[in-house]
Amino acid sequence: MDQNTKKIQVASAALEYIENGQIIGIGSGSTVNCLIEQLDKVKSKIDAVVSSSEATTKLVKSKNIRVIDLKESGRIPLYIDGADESNQHKQLIKGGGGALTREKIVAHASDKFVCMIDDSKLVDTLGSFPLPIEVIGMSQSLVSLEMIKLGGRPVLRENYLTDNNNIIVDTHNLQIQQPIKLEQEINNIPGVVTTGLFAMRGADILLVSNGSNIDEL
Ligand code: 5RP
Repeated sequence: MDQNTKKIQVASAALEYIENGQIIGIGSGSTVNCLIEQLDKVKSKIDAVVSSSEATTKLVKSKNIRVIDLKESGRIPLYIDGADESNQHKQLIKGGGGALTREKIVAHASDKFVCMIDDSKLVDTLGSFPLPIEVIGMSQSLVSLEMIKLGGRPVLRENYLTDNNNIIVDTHNLQIQQPIKLEQEINNIPGVVTTGLFAMRGADILLVSNGSNIDEL
């Protein structure tokens, strides 16, 4: 089964978590786009959406669903998003689509984080997917040197600025044995806005599409 069909299936399973009258947080990326595409089915249940990117905001609004700010919503009962990798502990690498900072903010503000992936993204050890780090421009070389010290190979994402006007340094070659420790170490580097490692606040529920059914972890 192709990747896109798996995304549609896992997104359909995530819709089941939406309850009546809820404000929901929505992430970014192609799996999330499959979710938004199917929101018509549950639209009457959704009070409003807190969005993690300009792209998501545009798509949600195109469905005539209200988008509100986090400062208006307060805590959010449910956040739904995709990921680039997950381990068995539901610790994630995110940010392939560049929306990691707002995604991390909305995830932290949410009581339940439902993450949708296909089985190719479920790994024993995080790090095969290059770890995205959002960085304030002037700190690019500083952050890169620190990531080399941590065993990585940092590469600037070319011709790319985030929704917050920052750069992204994608770090290859990491074998992440201690995700929480690494997340804290990267957070401590001056100029780092956000690391795409979602270990301190990982997913609560991981939905994995394998082509024939959806496994829930
Ligand atoms: C965007 C993300 C996405 O959730 C992640 O990149 C997965 O994307 P896709 O669903 O397109 O595979 O973190 O910042």
